[in-house]
Amino acid sequence: MTSIDPAEASSYIQSYAQVQPSVGLVLGSGWGGIAKQVRVSVDLPFSSIPGFQTTHAQGHEGRLLLGQLENVPVLVMAGRFHRYEGYTTQQVTFPIEVMSLLGITELIITNAAGGVHPKLKVGDIVIVKDHINWLGGIQPAFQKKFSPVASSTPARQTTDLYDDASVDRLLAIANSNHINARIGTYLATLGPSYETRSEYRMMRKIGADVVGMSSIPEAMAAKHLRISPLVLSIVTNVANPDQKSTVNHDEVLEVGRNTEANAEKLIRGFLKSIKGKGTGGANS
Ligand code: HPA
Repeated sequence: MTSIDPAEASSYIQSYAQVQPSVGLVLGSGWGGIAKQVRVSVDLPFSSIPGFQTTHAQGHEGRLLLGQLENVPVLVMAGRFHRYEGYTTQQVTFPIEVMSLLGITELIITNAAGGVHPKLKVGDIVIVKDHINWLGGIQPAFQKKFSPVASSTPARQTTDLYDDASVDRLLAIANSNHINARIGTYLATLGPSYETRSEYRMMRKIGADVVGMSSIPEAMAAKHLRISPLVLSIVTNVANPDQKSTVNHDEVLEVGRNTEANAEKLIRGFLKSIKGKGTGGANS
């Protein structure tokens, strides 16, 4: 467990930053191309930032960028930390604590996921409206730190993490750009194995639309820190419980590369709409 104070990391990042970022972006598998679109003013390897871990996941660059996208000051994590890499929830969510100290108010969390809803196709985007969390909660100590009402007894969890208006706005942006997107429920597993056919069948039965191995710890931490989280999944494989198949990470990355243009349009459209709301920062 990290004992580094997030304030140390935020001061370190702030010593490079000229503009305060208002929006955070966590780029997971399949979304890394967006980093190339950012007008970068600061580029820091995760390994240089106090308290940050190193990411071993394939396709995750492990860099933190500050810059502008659609004239919105953004902080971009090109890569993330996963529970399946052996990191604790606290280590996985440490960057979100840092983002909070840096003044981020909205966080877009992206990932690659398996399509569980039978209508989903490879390359579709799912805008998450709710989740099923099999990764466990964030630590009581974390909750206590940020919420005076939290104690070491079972943690309070808000039932509505995701802002309906933002979810609807994202769907409208997707539709107007002819991007196949739907609203859905994300089920978070520990991984690192993909699912068996029986597991996919069960997940469908309990109401999951997509399944993946990330994002929810970050979304929960963000909500606790009063950052509004959004989670976007690119469907990189679809579950067919009635047919034998194998999923591998190379296929997941390949789909991401093919759908990069859609991912970029969606994020750009959303940032433009934020700017329209007047939260794009003084320099936008
Ligand atoms: N299951 C879990 N995580 C995933 C999958 C999947 O099928 N596809 C991409 N990430």
